[in-house]
Amino acid sequence: MSAATGLQIGGEKTSGQDVRSQNVTAACAISNIVKTSLGPLGLDKMLVDDLGEVTITNDGATILQQLDVQHPAAKVLVELADLQDREVGDGTTSVVILASELLKHGNELVKNKVHPTSVIQGFRLAMRQACKYVSEEMAVTTESLGKEALMNAARTSMSSKIIGSQSEFFSEMVVDAMNAVKIEGRKGAKYPLKSVGIIKGNGLSSSDSYLAPGLAVKIARATPMMVKTVSGGCKIACLDFDLKKFKGQMGVDIVVQNPKELEAIRKQEELITKQRIQMIIDAGANVVLTTKGMDDLSMKYFVEAGIIGVRRVPKIDIQRIAKATGATLCVSLGTLDGDEAFEAGWLGTADSVGEEMIGDYEMMMFKGCKTSKAVTIVLRGPNEYMLDEMERSVHDALCVVKRTLESGMVVPGGGCVETALSIYLENFATTLGTREQLAIAEFAEALLVIPRTLSTNAACDATELVARLRAYHHKFQSDPANSNVALGRTGLDLTNGKLRDNVSAGVLEPMLIKLKSISFATEAAISILRIDDMIKITPPDQQQGGGGGMPPGMGGGMPPGMGM
Ligand SMILES: Nc1ncnc2c1ncn2[C@@H]1O[C@H](COP(=O)(O)OP(=O)(O)OP(=O)(O)O)[C@@H](O)[C@H]1O
Ligand SMILES: [Mg+2]
Repeated sequence: MSAATGLQIGGEKTSGQDVRSQNVTAACAISNIVKTSLGPLGLDKMLVDDLGEVTITNDGATILQQLDVQHPAAKVLVELADLQDREVGDGTTSVVILASELLKHGNELVKNKVHPTSVIQGFRLAMRQACKYVSEEMAVTTESLGKEALMNAARTSMSSKIIGSQSEFFSEMVVDAMNAVKIEGRKGAKYPLKSVGIIKGNGLSSSDSYLAPGLAVKIARATPMMVKTVSGGCKIACLDFDLKKFKGQMGVDIVVQNPKELEAIRKQEELITKQRIQMIIDAGANVVLTTKGMDDLSMKYFVEAGIIGVRRVPKIDIQRIAKATGATLCVSLGTLDGDEAFEAGWLGTADSVGEEMIGDYEMMMFKGCKTSKAVTIVLRGPNEYMLDEMERSVHDALCVVKRTLESGMVVPGGGCVETALSIYLENFATTLGTREQLAIAEFAEALLVIPRTLSTNAACDATELVARLRAYHHKFQSDPANSNVALGRTGLDLTNGKLRDNVSAGVLEPMLIKLKSISFATEAAISILRIDDMIKITPPDQQQGGGGGMPPGMGGGMPPGMGM
């Protein structure tokens, strides 16, 4: 950093053990925030942002998104939760807790003079072994468990949330919704999450929520004079231009000598719009949606023709409708020949379209859409905070059901997988004669943070419960015949502070979510452990103030007269 070498760093440099310890402290601070919200008896967080907006939630990713995190290593964990949320939807709290625990254990090893590279390699190997063990030894097919497995997976995901007490009611709704949007493809069945819309209606209680068939969109007819419902084969036109009286382009001057000609121009302007509308009607449309405006004259034509016309439809909604009904969003009627035309092939199809009262709102309901079967979950709740949290919980459960349906594999929850893996990896580590052995043993120890946190949050004796759980799994794995299958499925029963077979108790999680959280957490921990130097550049204004250590005249500022 000296001036003599010409290599100057206008900032602060931290190296080696200092930076690792700093990063681990930051990561632990983040995981401590979400730790108490893990599990069915975890608690919620209330977050207030700088505008006073309140969020009450139990969802790991939502909690971390609301925080203003400054430390770069802590930001990695926030992004990790976000990644888990986007990729698989559930398990965001677990992934953050696991990553920070792995970091803590990795850092201890480095402090004890194990090279970070050995730790990283050991963690990678442990992760691969863990994923292999889960998919080969622990996964249970949903077929062997029957239809209840899906309901149970949804119920487990909801158990920690605000709707946990009504998980029976909501899990049925979620499973029905996901089954309704099934699409048979060449590569097997698909369950698009986007086809399930969620609408929140303030008022009534959460048990008044229901599943409505069709796509519901918060838009209304341009005028109440129009018909309310069109049924028996609807043809839907999605437009992205104005349906107003035609106006010449800006900046075009027309010199008129005779006032009668002016009248003729006006007439022609009206005629252009009328012709356009006639073109759309002739193509067979009986529902016309536009993202832009619609004037009284155009409305009159639609009313006369018995067509539903909707103006100012938000772009995102019209895209959803176009996708579901198979319509083409039309930006202009112009053809290559300079004429105007509207092709019948641009129209989307649905069985019926009409305004319906959903909750307290009039909504446009599209039923029997052509390309994708859409359903809408209508959530009711006493206040906005609760509705928002209900939406997040239902979303988590939808993701869980989707993953379970697509892969058909579940694993027992309640700390079962983590404890079994911990025993397995400990045994695996002793078979290795290399330096990675230590890292794998630490990985095994770190996994126990999940059952420990689950039992602590449920006000149970974590040390005793986890020790007993380990003993059960050790007994199962040391028996070469694996005769007692239930022993290998033992997990925590948090309400009674006991142990039980979690497969028969119905505490199930999709295998994919477990695999992803183990691999994402390991990758995040490794990416932080790899750091051994942190250089923080001082902002230019502080440098000029004398804090940056740059020689005068060489600061970040521009020479006078060259400013912008
Ligand atoms: N009835 C239950 N008995 C025992 N353990 C349970 C039960 N229900 C859920 N769990 C456990 O709770 C954990 C999930 O808790 P939670 O849903 O709060 O966190 P998450 O899924 O990691 O994150 P988030 O839901 O916030 O995205 C899993 O380890 C699961 O096995
Ligand atoms: Mg969850």
